[in-house]
Amino acid sequence: MSKQQTVYLPLDSVAVSLGANDVARVLEEDGFTVVRTGSRGMHWLEPLLEVDRGGERVGFGPLTLENTEGILACLRGGNYDHPAYVGPIADIPFFARQDRQVFERCGVINPVDVTDYEAHGGLAGLRKALDMDPKDVCAEVFASGLRGRGGAGFPAGIKWHTVADAEADHKYIVVNADEGDSGTFADRMIMEGDPLLLIEGMAIAGIATGAAKGYIYLRSEYPIAAEVLQHAIAAARAFGITGSDVLGSGKSFNVELFMGAGAYICGEETSLLNSLEGKRGEVRAKPPIPALEGLFGKPTLVHNVISLCSVPKILEKGAQFYADLGMGKSTGTMPFQIAGNVKQGGLFEAPFGMTIRELVEELSGGTRTGRPIRAVQIGGPLGAYLPNEMLDLKLDYETLASHGAGVGHGGMVVFDDTVNLLAQARYAFEFCAEESCGKCTPCRIGSVRGVEAIDKLASGQDPEGQKELIADLCEVMVDGSLCAMGGMTPIPVESAMKHFPEDFNIHPAKS
Ligand SMILES: Cc1cc2nc3c(=O)[nH]c(=O)nc-3n(C[C@H](O)[C@H](O)[C@H](O)COP(=O)(O)O)c2cc1C
Ligand code: SF4
Repeated sequence: MSKQQTVYLPLDSVAVSLGANDVARVLEEDGFTVVRTGSRGMHWLEPLLEVDRGGERVGFGPLTLENTEGILACLRGGNYDHPAYVGPIADIPFFARQDRQVFERCGVINPVDVTDYEAHGGLAGLRKALDMDPKDVCAEVFASGLRGRGGAGFPAGIKWHTVADAEADHKYIVVNADEGDSGTFADRMIMEGDPLLLIEGMAIAGIATGAAKGYIYLRSEYPIAAEVLQHAIAAARAFGITGSDVLGSGKSFNVELFMGAGAYICGEETSLLNSLEGKRGEVRAKPPIPALEGLFGKPTLVHNVISLCSVPKILEKGAQFYADLGMGKSTGTMPFQIAGNVKQGGLFEAPFGMTIRELVEELSGGTRTGRPIRAVQIGGPLGAYLPNEMLDLKLDYETLASHGAGVGHGGMVVFDDTVNLLAQARYAFEFCAEESCGKCTPCRIGSVRGVEAIDKLASGQDPEGQKELIADLCEVMVDGSLCAMGGMTPIPVESAMKHFPEDFNIHPAKS
């Protein structure tokens, strides 16, 4: 290998937090051309260095300042005989078993280079959409069966038709990039690794629904994503993907980045819209739905990042192609995110229908501690705790719903047999108390009472009475909360009590 040869190294937050920038400096000082890419999502290998070997990417990882020199010596000598050599990326089992429809370019291209993006299949969806009647674009999204990836799983096509049919002088596309769920990072990864895909998806949505302006509401905790997005927005504009003449069509669409301020509740769509309008991030009552009266009272299509990033492929390959992936009413692929106490965590994109066990045991290698898996929380902090016996459930909306759980944003947090589910139930109430917007009583007060009841239970003060009180509180929160923050907090609490009753069997304290 000559010294000027190109190597690929992620700029992704995980890789950077593990020293990728220091490694990049060493590589550049050594004369290598370093292309910073997104991550392949195999977190245990980060920072993962890739080189092109006869048309295929091979990798070394994880890189450290200590082993970088040795790896460079191998590359200079044209050999791959190094303990950190992981072989062809495409052959790594965690990668080989995926079906990357959304993340296909992530880790491959320079995220802000439109030419690179186009050379790897980018813009095909937008070009096709521009040749179609906008109504037909909405119909294509509807027929694909795409459901919102932000958590609720609502059919995207219904929202697209609603916004398209609404009469208004202005309409908006709003991207929900607040990604506050614990154990989730798919939005961040795609924004850092392939932000032009999001911009393409937004442009298609704008053209289909008649919206000329799009906002990306990004959580403030994602500074690298913010920087990459700013560059991508500028590059898209310079190329004509956005602006007053989208790819020469005469149609107008512009994108602006807006930074949130670190409130979990601002991921809830109406709260997000308030925040975007410069108001306090408080939940709005529905109706009116945002599709009819959203941002500044205008029809607004609010979508999660991954929902919009799924759209270009639907247009490019057709609704049927997408609908054929997955199972039943859970069509397409989902980027599952595996985190917590797990040996090989990361992002795994696959059609709906795999089992939880395949992901957390077979592909991720079980727990990092080597102890048995006791619980997996699926779908973020408001998701259910499932015991080991339930890990053979298939990952699709209907199967999980029929077992009191949900896909949510696709996050899975693994716990070994040292976890205490009473403590996790307390955490659920505490999280709600901390993050509640305070608008309605069941959530604002109920969550605080929940923490108190669990503390009393833990200290043996009338344990059976506390359990009844917790059940009552949960019922009130489900029935009386204005939004899913209060309405879903009972899910982790009740699933913990149901599946791990032994952790709640506390003996009464002697008075
Ligand atoms: C408390 C709470 C937090 C939420 N956080 C997010 C979030 O961070 N990202 C997201 O996309 N959706 C989040 N949602 C869901 C949004 O309200 C909304 O359903 C979603 O943005 C719609 O986009 P989709 O149809 O593409 O999923 C949250 C909902 C609730 C109740
Ligand atoms: S449920 Fe909680 S977060 Fe939702 S509106 Fe009520 S107080 Fe606010």
